[in-house]
Amino acid sequence: MTTTNIDFKTQILEGIPNELPELKPYPTGANRVPKRKDILTTEEKKLAIRNALRYFPKKWHATLAPEFAHELREYGRIYMYRFQPNYEMYARPIGEYPAKSRHAAAIMLMIQNNLNPAVAQHPNELITYGGNGSVFQNWAQYRLTMQYLATMTDEQTLHMYSGHPLGLFPSSKDAPRVVVTNGMMIPNYSKPDDWERYNALGVTQYGQMTAGSYMYIGPQGIVHGTAITVMNAFRKKLEKGDTPQGKIFLTAGLGGMSGAQPKAGNIAGCITVAAEVNPKAARKRHEQGWVDELVENTDDLVARVRETQALKEVVSIAYIGNVVDVWECFDKEGIYVDIGSDQTSLHNPWSGGYYPVGMSYEAANELLSTNPDKFKKQVKASLQRHAAAVNRHTAQGTYFFDYGNAFLLESSRAGADVMAENGIDFRYPSYVQDILGPMCFDYGFGPFRWVCASGKSEDLDKTDAIALGVMQTIQATAPPEIQQQMADNIKWIKEAKANKLVVGSQARILYADAEGRMKIAEAFNIAVANRLLSAPVILGRDHHDVSGTDSPYRETSNIYDGSKFTADMAIHNVIGDSFRGATWVSIHNGGGVGWGEVMNGGFGLVLDGTPDAAKRLKAMLFYDVNNGIARRSWARNEEALFAIRREMERSPELRVTLPEIVEDGVIEGVV
Ligand SMILES: NC(=O)c1ccc[n+]([C@@H]2O[C@H](COP(=O)([O-])OP(=O)(O)OC[C@H]3O[C@@H](n4cnc5c(N)ncnc54)[C@H](O)[C@@H]3O)[C@@H](O)[C@H]2O)c1
Repeated sequence: MTTTNIDFKTQILEGIPNELPELKPYPTGANRVPKRKDILTTEEKKLAIRNALRYFPKKWHATLAPEFAHELREYGRIYMYRFQPNYEMYARPIGEYPAKSRHAAAIMLMIQNNLNPAVAQHPNELITYGGNGSVFQNWAQYRLTMQYLATMTDEQTLHMYSGHPLGLFPSSKDAPRVVVTNGMMIPNYSKPDDWERYNALGVTQYGQMTAGSYMYIGPQGIVHGTAITVMNAFRKKLEKGDTPQGKIFLTAGLGGMSGAQPKAGNIAGCITVAAEVNPKAARKRHEQGWVDELVENTDDLVARVRETQALKEVVSIAYIGNVVDVWECFDKEGIYVDIGSDQTSLHNPWSGGYYPVGMSYEAANELLSTNPDKFKKQVKASLQRHAAAVNRHTAQGTYFFDYGNAFLLESSRAGADVMAENGIDFRYPSYVQDILGPMCFDYGFGPFRWVCASGKSEDLDKTDAIALGVMQTIQATAPPEIQQQMADNIKWIKEAKANKLVVGSQARILYADAEGRMKIAEAFNIAVANRLLSAPVILGRDHHDVSGTDSPYRETSNIYDGSKFTADMAIHNVIGDSFRGATWVSIHNGGGVGWGEVMNGGFGLVLDGTPDAAKRLKAMLFYDVNNGIARRSWARNEEALFAIRREMERSPELRVTLPEIVEDGVIEGVV
């Protein structure tokens, strides 16, 4: 054992240290989170400091009170920077964690991966991605949670309230080791400003999806989902036998998730043009190899696009500038766009998520801080121009879809021409309505993922090979309805290693249905038991899946029976998974599209090679996927009806209420 290991273990077991740690300078070059809104009254600020101090012994209060007041004043939140541990933050091999429960050690590994500076967006503020997707609110919560995990047994459950470890409660070996909730609010208190207020008070947090549930695996998850989406968008648009080669996919954003678009476009085999108004973001993605070329003005862009079309190259081009300029310029120049979308951060339109056309990035930021009302007006005007240019392209045949970033919602609110004739729907579909919903989720295909707890890339290679074998066996007898999904995912897993997608823990993502997930998990468990794999495998998924998320403008946007504004599915999912064998479960308010707009849940399941794990994986994964398919079939979705009938045929203990389909003529004229 090395000294670093001893230090690490001692620090973990210590929790809140016995001696007040030194106040360290803020790490140079770190990506600090923007200052949050100053929303608390003076009395509330006192309450926030009182709340923060309850983690520490009385003797430190006089020292820490002014320090926390300073953090609140300067950054709008109390992160307790002083308590950030000294050891390096990354997912260690599972054996390096001090633990009485191996399952708890697996959770510690996942938490550290979410906070690894190579993985996390604002690691010093405990934020993994999405600007405010927190693992914890402050460093005291991190330290206490790690101490609880290190000391708990398999007869206890740790209950996490929005980053705060409420405590260890007696339970049983069959119960989850950890239950996580993030941002659960009384519904009336779920507006964006409520997050600002209660987060500043230190009583809740925005857990995003996989941030506060310890299941983030870096950009790989997004690349796969985006590649599936772009490939299927082309399939919707192209004649049978035609390929995306030489065809254009035009979009915007090279940020956290949006930065995956060029790589996904390359995997799909098209020409990707991604506009990015922030030169730093564009250059960073270029340096990282996520986008092939950089272009700084529309003349060069037009010339390069014409050239690459003639050569039928597979290439991705970043345009440094506003996307509206590209839509307008391509319209003027007669450049035909085959597929169009947008991934600016329109879930956050008034605070820098979307930059208005006609001004530089710097000028827009200046306006935002000096005159937010004028900035808002500019954004609205820009959205009107943006939508008008898109409309001119779609009139020529471009297939445009909303990428779950609220582009259509915010454009409609800005008065842009994006409504359908019925005045209720948008004139363009969302990517879930047209692509991921009917082609993936309704059949049960979703972002299944796993992490090799050994931390060894050889183990990941072995799991890739196992998953490939299982998928190929299933494909041999799969019905035509899911052949395309099987083929896409077999291709993905074959190429995954070469695509070099691992950042942080040794993780892999794959879209699979219930049968695929269960059979792959079973094969992994056997491989752990046989010591083909040197340590357990941790299973999980993105919340952006078949059953995990109720989100009316995204994951459940292809639910048309009126129930898309309910959240029963996500709640049942987390409760149902918890008593069927999940190692940990989580349920969040607000991931992906914003606080108050969505409920989403997830799980983690440790495959330790035991017969118990074999039992758990079957019970849990079966429910985890079929819950959503059942709900989608009740909403009359044809693909889900096919999938649930098929499942009932092979699983006699499953009995689902099926809808009777009413003929249109029966309803017409009745009301
Ligand atoms: N990738 C996915 O799988 C996925 C799925 C669902 C939703 N989304 C949504 O996509 C959006 C983007 O996510 P992100 O993590 O990349 O956010 P981000 O804020 O990191 O990136 C968005 C980028 O868009 C740029 N931008 C803003 N306005 C622009 C304009 N007018 N022209 C050109 N560039 C502009 C910004 O500079 C920024 O770099 C979010 O709303 C997210 O919820 C993504």
